[in-house]
Amino acid sequence: MKNTAATLLAQKQSGEKITMLTAYDYTTACIEDECGVNSILVGDSLGMVMLGYENTLSVTMEDMLHHTKAVTRGAKNAFVVADMPFMSYQTSVYDAVVNAGRLIKEGGAQAVKLEGGAAVAEQIKAIVDSSIPVVAHLGLTPQSVNAFGGFKVQGKDYQRAKQIIEDADIIQSAGACAVVLEGIPAPLAELISKRLVIPTIGIGAGAGCDGQVLVYQDMLGLTIGHTPKFAKRFSDAAEVYKKGFCEYIEQVKASAFPTAEHSYKIDEQIMDALTSDYAKKEGE
Ligand code: KIV
Repeated sequence: MKNTAATLLAQKQSGEKITMLTAYDYTTACIEDECGVNSILVGDSLGMVMLGYENTLSVTMEDMLHHTKAVTRGAKNAFVVADMPFMSYQTSVYDAVVNAGRLIKEGGAQAVKLEGGAAVAEQIKAIVDSSIPVVAHLGLTPQSVNAFGGFKVQGKDYQRAKQIIEDADIIQSAGACAVVLEGIPAPLAELISKRLVIPTIGIGAGAGCDGQVLVYQDMLGLTIGHTPKFAKRFSDAAEVYKKGFCEYIEQVKASAFPTAEHSYKIDEQIMDALTSDYAKKEGE
C-alpha cells in the first residue's frame, strides 16, 4: 500500500507508530521500501554522510535533486520526503515555492521538509497552498548549527522549550502535514506530540513521538566518526563491508578470483584460430 500524508495521519490516530529512514540512492531506497518503511527522507544529511562535508550547509538544490531522483526510482510504497537545502527557502516565499516545486516535479518526491517555526510559516503556507505537502522540522535543526554554536540539544530551559511548543502550533496552523522533532528532551517531545493533531517524527526526542527517523548509516553502523547518543546501532554493516572488501583484495592478489565460475566461455575452435593469428609466439 502506498504511504501518503493521509496514511501517516491515520497511523497517528490509530496509535500505530510511523517509521522513517533516510536514503540517498536507488539501491538503499529499494531495500528500505521492501522492508516496509512508511517514509523515506532524502535528508540534506547527505552532505555529511554521502559527500563528506562537516555539516549540511553546503548542500545545493542540484545535490538534493540528484539524490531525490535516485530514491524515488526505488521507493514504490514509501512516502518520499525531500529536504529543502540551506538557503533554498529562507530567502523568500517565492524561492521556497519554486524550489519545493522542483523537488516534486523533477525529483519525484511526494513532500518536502524544511527547518524552522514562525520564521518560515509563510513559506510553509505558500508551499502547502501550491498543493505540496510540507514536513516541518523543529528543535536541533542542523541548518542552524552556527546560530546554535554546535549540534546541541535544544529546549532544555523554559523559554526555549516554550518557543519550540509555540513553533509547533504555528507550523501546524500553517498547514504542515507532519513535523520532525530533533534533539529535544523526551518529555517535551511527548507534550508536543499529544498537543498536535499532525504526526511528530522524533530523532533524539524519545519514545513519546508518533514515529521515529534515523540516518541509515548511523543505525547500520556505517558512520565515519562520531555517532550521536540517540542513534542506536541495529547492525554492524561496516564489518560486513570490510570483510567483503578485504577478501576481494586478497583473492585478486592471489589469483583466486575470478575462477571459471565467474568467467565467460568461447567456442574452442574460434579461440584456437585467434591464438594462432594473434598470440605472440615464443621466441618472436
Ligand atoms: O537531513 C536529515 O537526515 C534529517 C534527519 C536528521 C531528520 O533532517
